Amino acid sequence: MLTAKLGPSELRSSVLGFGCAALMGRASRRDSLRALNAASDLGITFFDTARSYGYGESETVLGEFLRGRRDQVVVSTKFGILPVGQHGWKKAARGFARKLFRFVPAARRAARTQIAAQFSHNQFSTEILRRSLNESLRQLRTDYVDFLFLHSPPASVLEQDELFGELERIVAAGKVRFAGISAGPELAVSQSVHDRRVLKASQIPVNLFNLHRTSGYKTHAEQRVLVANLPFGGVDGVAASRDRIRRVAGLRGVPAGLARKLAEQDDGLMADVVLNVILRHTGIHTVVPSMIRMQHLRANVDAIVNSRFSNDEITCLREEFARLNTQPEVAAPQVGQ
Ligand SMILES: NC(=O)c1ccc[n+]([C@@H]2O[C@H](COP(=O)([O-])OP(=O)(O)OC[C@H]3O[C@@H](n4cnc5c(N)ncnc54)[C@H](OP(=O)(O)O)[C@@H]3O)[C@@H](O)[C@H]2O)c1
Repeated sequence: MLTAKLGPSELRSSVLGFGCAALMGRASRRDSLRALNAASDLGITFFDTARSYGYGESETVLGEFLRGRRDQVVVSTKFGILPVGQHGWKKAARGFARKLFRFVPAARRAARTQIAAQFSHNQFSTEILRRSLNESLRQLRTDYVDFLFLHSPPASVLEQDELFGELERIVAAGKVRFAGISAGPELAVSQSVHDRRVLKASQIPVNLFNLHRTSGYKTHAEQRVLVANLPFGGVDGVAASRDRIRRVAGLRGVPAGLARKLAEQDDGLMADVVLNVILRHTGIHTVVPSMIRMQHLRANVDAIVNSRFSNDEITCLREEFARLNTQPEVAAPQVGQ
C-alpha cells in the first residue's frame, strides 16, 4: 500500500483510508469487523468514523478492532451530529432491514428520509463537544484521536469563539492531535476556516462530479491535511460514476490509448479511475471510501498499487471530468457538490 505524510502534520498513513459510515448500519457487526480486519491486512492505516455513524455504534466496533493496534493506525472521528440510538424492536429489525435493502435497493432509498430524520444535526455547543469527544474516546477504547472534525457545520459555527477556545484546550490536553472541519468545499477550504488556526485538517467530498473544484487543493495541502470523502458519490452515486466514465471514454479529446483502457469495463476500472483522479497530483492526502464488500476493498487497493493509468492519462482524465462538470447541459447528480 502507498503511504503519505499527512500534510504539515508528523503523521503518516495509507493514501487509501477506510470510511466507517456503513459499520453497524448497512453492515452487521460480523461484516464490519471482517471488513476492518481485511482492510488492515491489506495495509490500510487510516480509519474515518463519526459519533453519528451506525446509530452511534460505528465507533464501538472500530474500538473493538483497534485493540492492540491503536498506535499503528490513524483514527479520525467527528462531532456535531448526534446519533439517535436504536433499542428494542428497532435494533432487532436492523438485520432484516439489511437483507431487504441488499435485495431491494429501492427500499433503502425509500427509508433514507426516515433514517436521516433520526439524527440531530448542528450540535456545536462546547458542552456537546466535551461530551461527544469523551463518548467517542470511550467507544473507541483510546485516550486520544488523531483527528476530530466538526461534522457538517453551518458557516456560522466559525463565529463561536467559545467553541474554538474549547477545541484549543482539548488539543493542548492531547485528547485530539488535530482538529478539522468536514464540510462542502465552499466552507472546508475557505478563508474563514484558514483563519481558525486550530483547524488543521479539512474533509471534503471529492468525486467525478466535482473534480473541477480540486484545482486549488494543492496549495491548501501545504498548510492543512486534506481528506477526500464520498469518492464514488455514495451508494447511489456508483452507477452514475460508471456512466460518467463511459461518457468521458467517448469524448473526442481522449487519446486512443486511454480510450482503449477505458473501454476495458472490468470490475476494477471504476476504482482505478476514481481513486487515482482524486489522489494523484491534487494535494489530497488520503481518500476514505466505504468498502464493506471484499471485492470492492480489493479493487480499491489494487487501484492504488497496480493502476493501469500513467500520470499523464490521469491528468487528462481529471481535466475531461472537470470540463464535463462545468458544462451547463450535463446534469450533475446531487453527490456532495
Ligand atoms: N460529512 C461527512 O463528514 C461525510 C459525508 C459522507 C461520507 N463521509 C465519509 O466518507 C466515507 C465514504 O462515503 P460514502 O460511503 O457515503 O460514499 P462512497 O464511499 O463514495 O460510496 C460507497 C459506495 O461505493 C461502493 N464501493 C466502494 N468501492 C467500490 C468499488 N471498487 N466498486 C464499486 N463500488 C464500490 C460501496 O460498496 P460496499 O460498501 O457495499 O462495498 C458503497 O456502496 C464514509 O464512510 C465516511 O467515512 C463523511
